[in-house]
Amino acid sequence: MRKVRKAVIPVAGLGTRFLPATKAMPKEMLTVVDRPVVQYAVDEALDAGIEHIVFVTGRNKHVIEDYFDIQPELLDTLKRTGKLEQLASLSKMQPAAGAISFTRQQVPHGLGHAVWCARDIVGDEPFALLLPDMVSFGERGCLAGAMELYQQTGGNVIAVEQCDPTETHKYGIVGKGEAVRGGFAVTEMVEKPAPAAAPSNYYINGRYILQPEVFELLDTQERGAGGEIQLTDAMRRLCESQPFHAHPYRGRTFDCGSKEGFIQANVAFALARADMRDLVLQPIAQMIASQQRRNEAA
Ligand code: UTP
Repeated sequence: MRKVRKAVIPVAGLGTRFLPATKAMPKEMLTVVDRPVVQYAVDEALDAGIEHIVFVTGRNKHVIEDYFDIQPELLDTLKRTGKLEQLASLSKMQPAAGAISFTRQQVPHGLGHAVWCARDIVGDEPFALLLPDMVSFGERGCLAGAMELYQQTGGNVIAVEQCDPTETHKYGIVGKGEAVRGGFAVTEMVEKPAPAAAPSNYYINGRYILQPEVFELLDTQERGAGGEIQLTDAMRRLCESQPFHAHPYRGRTFDCGSKEGFIQANVAFALARADMRDLVLQPIAQMIASQQRRNEAA
């Protein structure tokens, strides 16, 4: 079985759901507590054993490239002023030289097209794909679990979570087949089905392990829903010739490309951090209590 060494992180989308914040600032650089959301994806990939990160960037996204670069003046100042904790945190987040590549999606034609833009850098090997605005929250990162399933099944792996069955129209949904080593075989994939037509309530949460043949399918891919080149359409075609398994993630994924998901992620991550919990718990509890009083009085 071929090892998964590379992870593709597409960051070329326009982030229209989060305007006006994302007009000049990439949504992938919005911070959850004190780290940009893209950092969570990179950490998750490295924790899962990924050796090389491929970013697919676009116009107005150069700040992401700068973020992963070294800033000598900043490092010198932190050293000189004895801010060693901050210095250590910067060194920890720095990918090794040569272990990160950037390619460009000149026009945001959709997720499938963004993935296709990474084809030459990925080459003929399986790769992980992480949508950075989907932030995993749990005891361990989602990709590590998907990787374990892949090591047993090979083929393609999609991470999934269960949504409210009335909300399947918001997600890519998979059909559930036989149980396989903690996961299950994927029988079909449907983009945003109405609840009555949905094959299950397992939604695709933004973590994938894909075989390189997906690039050939994306090569000839026609535009799908929303006039965009859809990754789900290519995966559905790949499903005809290769196995797909689902890894049910035991944690929770926040959609930080939406305002509500982003706010929830900030609260969840802050409450989970020993250095933040006491600072935010009481003020949040007070805000909730006073909102409840206002609701009751209304
Ligand atoms: P989304 O569909 O959430 O991103 O894509 P979007 O289009 O930027 O968001 P909205 O719906 O307008 O608010 C998931 C990931 O895929 C990237 C995005 O940057 C995001 O990280 N993406 C999406 C691309 O790189 N290129 C695209 O053409 C579309």
